[in-house]
Amino acid sequence: MKNEPAHREKAEFDSYAAGYSAGMENPVKRIFGNTIESFIGIRIRWLFEYLKKDPFPRELPPENIRLLDFGCGTGESLQVLHKMGFAGRVEGCDISECMITEAVKRWQCGPVPSLHLIKEDGKINSPDDSYDVIMVSCVFHHIDRSKYGEIFAELKRVLKPGGRLVLFEHNPINPLTKWIVSRTYVDRNAVLVKAGVIEKMLSMAGFENVRTQYLLFFPPRLRWKLIEKLESSLWWLPLGGQYVVSAKK
Ligand SMILES: C[S@@+](CC[C@H](N)C(=O)[O-])C[C@H]1O[C@@H](n2cnc3c(N)ncnc32)[C@H](O)[C@@H]1O
Repeated sequence: MKNEPAHREKAEFDSYAAGYSAGMENPVKRIFGNTIESFIGIRIRWLFEYLKKDPFPRELPPENIRLLDFGCGTGESLQVLHKMGFAGRVEGCDISECMITEAVKRWQCGPVPSLHLIKEDGKINSPDDSYDVIMVSCVFHHIDRSKYGEIFAELKRVLKPGGRLVLFEHNPINPLTKWIVSRTYVDRNAVLVKAGVIEKMLSMAGFENVRTQYLLFFPPRLRWKLIEKLESSLWWLPLGGQYVVSAKK
């Protein structure tokens, strides 16, 4: 990966965009969750709990919360946010033009939100202090580690003071996650990253309250309340299929 050109990821996801299914073509993944929304739903439920436990000040009503999905891909996470009742204003950005074009085609939740292309120099097309929440879901294992620092600095630039960064990733400590990723076509160049590496780099970038929790202990197709409760009682346990690192600016 080391000698790849800066925009290797762009070319890579441009070629996956048309039939992109987030790895759902993998039969083992389909045993655990019948739709991509079922996997995303676990992450969005965590986000809602996180914002409930540590709410924004009253001066920021829910409908004014501005959220950016960095590496939004074909926009499924933004659609699930919408369907699960997120009241705020959402936007997405991605390095792949074809993924954004596909996101616009697939959008089914009313007016298409602003979905912007990351600039050639890696800058997000937004002024400083723009967003209250930045969500990053399954993006960093597609990025060369040498670029993490500059991307974290850029995420910090566009986050408002007091804004939250939530970064979801596959957990390399979980053997099943590693096995599925190793057999998923779009992940053939993926390099999984441990939560500790992300934590350390976010702290170095000047983020505060950097914390990790773990998700995906049960197959997302089991959508019973009891399973949801059990799942949230295990968020401390480093064995989940995915993890989420949260931080504040
Ligand atoms: C596996 S997809 C995840 C899409 C979406 N976040 C989701 O969870 O469904 C990874 C996405 O990250 C994007 N990506 C890769 N490198 C990126 C970078 N440096 N900046 C922004 N997006 C990037 C890819 O183009 C692709 O759309």
